[in-house]
Amino acid sequence: MKKMTSEELRKAWIDFYEKRGHVDIGTTSLIGDGTTGVLFNVAGMQPLMPYLLGKEHPQGKRLCNIQGCVRTNDIESVGDSSHTTFFEMMGSWSLGDYFKEERTKWSYEFLTQVLNLPIDRLATTVFEGNDSVPKDDETAVLREKSGFLHENIFFLSKEYNWWELERGPCGPDSEMFYITDKPACSPNCTPACDCGHYIEIGNDVFMQYDKVDENKYELLKKKNVDTGWGLERILAFLNTNGDVYLTDLFKGAIEILEQESGRKYNDDEKTKMAMRIIADHIRTSVMLLGDENHLVPSNVGAGYILRRLIRRAVRYARILNIPTDVFNKIVYYYIDDVYGKFYNNLANSKDFVITQLNKEIKRFEKTLDIGIKEFEKVIAKFNNDSEKILDGATSFRLYDTYGFPIELTEELAKERGLSVDINGFNQKFKEHQEKSKTATIGKFKGGLASSGEIETKYHTATHLLNAALKVVIGPDVHQKGSNITEERMRFDFSCDHKLTDEEKKKTEDLVNKWIKEDLEVTSQLMSKEDALKSGAECMFIEKYPDEVTVYSIGEVSKELCGGPHVKRTGELGIFKIKKEEASSAGVRRIKACLN
Ligand code: SER
Repeated sequence: MKKMTSEELRKAWIDFYEKRGHVDIGTTSLIGDGTTGVLFNVAGMQPLMPYLLGKEHPQGKRLCNIQGCVRTNDIESVGDSSHTTFFEMMGSWSLGDYFKEERTKWSYEFLTQVLNLPIDRLATTVFEGNDSVPKDDETAVLREKSGFLHENIFFLSKEYNWWELERGPCGPDSEMFYITDKPACSPNCTPACDCGHYIEIGNDVFMQYDKVDENKYELLKKKNVDTGWGLERILAFLNTNGDVYLTDLFKGAIEILEQESGRKYNDDEKTKMAMRIIADHIRTSVMLLGDENHLVPSNVGAGYILRRLIRRAVRYARILNIPTDVFNKIVYYYIDDVYGKFYNNLANSKDFVITQLNKEIKRFEKTLDIGIKEFEKVIAKFNNDSEKILDGATSFRLYDTYGFPIELTEELAKERGLSVDINGFNQKFKEHQEKSKTATIGKFKGGLASSGEIETKYHTATHLLNAALKVVIGPDVHQKGSNITEERMRFDFSCDHKLTDEEKKKTEDLVNKWIKEDLEVTSQLMSKEDALKSGAECMFIEKYPDEVTVYSIGEVSKELCGGPHVKRTGELGIFKIKKEEASSAGVRRIKACLN
């Protein structure tokens, strides 16, 4: 096994695949769009969905990259040695080109010749088959032929060896594992077990199906391979005995926390956990704030997750007894020393990241002290209760008045042996949402929403522009991204040609016609399924929360969205397209203003 820095590993991955005919396609945004239901990029394959489904990719059939991903369904498990909310996936793809033979050969070569892992330390899992898809004997044979030991090949069920998102390209996969020094927990231990004997290195997915509905799969026209290996995990077992926070990606951040707190990472479990949580949450916040689409903290969707990350980091800074301006040093470390050169926009966004981060910290710190006092007060009465459940009304008050994310309340409650009535909280939350719908535009109850009046207007204008382009250019136009500042809106959409002057004029006129008509903007909370059935427009189909908000503008637009929006289009003023240009292959970009 060979020690490697993160930069060496990145380079080794890209070099390896370029030598085998792949084109490095670089990274894409971590956030789809703050104004639709899509949250984050969760896998390297996500931006490639249309191509895995059969569309021709402009850069060819063999692609590779190192793509940042964010998975936050499990924020509370951050604090151990391997969980992180941001991670990088080293990817490579065959779009209807090579299949299992080359895939298994190259994976083995990378494991043994680049990472120098000994054969007896490698294990692999293969799909055991079910009623609709046969056992993947072919991959098992090829794995063995490439060099895996027979006894280290395991057949596992769909639960472990099938890869899919909510909808879209999917198929059986075959994962590779490193066998650690930690003894197996039992003679029956397999790579499916998380005792630590096996650590996942990466995943080769053989994508031959399209999941079109729940339990409904159609064969894809072409067979693809989607390979994703975890950069952090690999670095950790190559260099730091499995602890990702000791790799060079995090090292500087941990050192800053040690210096500032006067404690050592290894002092005790509580210190270690607090340092890991801060290092992780600030890293993800940096990547999201500094993303090309600049996410900012808010009370909805992706913005809310960012808010939770920052607020949780603030709380753990208190546990370490350090002031939160230490976070600025950590931001500089991540941008200057680790990620700035790999994520295009990041190095230029330092000021923005610092400003937004500190704005959110200030906002939270103001209420945190009073909130904690209030929390202590309300839980005091539970001391003698046998039923230790914090009711929904109280946790909603902590949220609404003191800005406590419900997850923070849950965490504080847990530390004191209490649980929280989440259903009760959700009920209160819904009631509140109904009420704020009737509140004045731009003034959001609870004072937590960060969108100003002008951004709100641009949000609504985005929906109108999306709808107008569908009328003028055609129904195939779909939103690919958007970005809003106080000065302008930017809107990316799928379209295969430069818009003519006439098309631009028609689009602009149509948006202005709808503004003049003073259409009503309404929202409705629906299950995700109903929303999609109702034909509401959305950017990606995967990764929605179960309940989504659908915004309708008169009869002209219906979109999944986190809001906020104006009440009537008449408030928008005059819409003007300032610029129309190429964004990337097959994607055009419009910059527009409201006057
Ligand atoms: N999509 C697969 C995964 O996320 C491999 O890239 O594991």
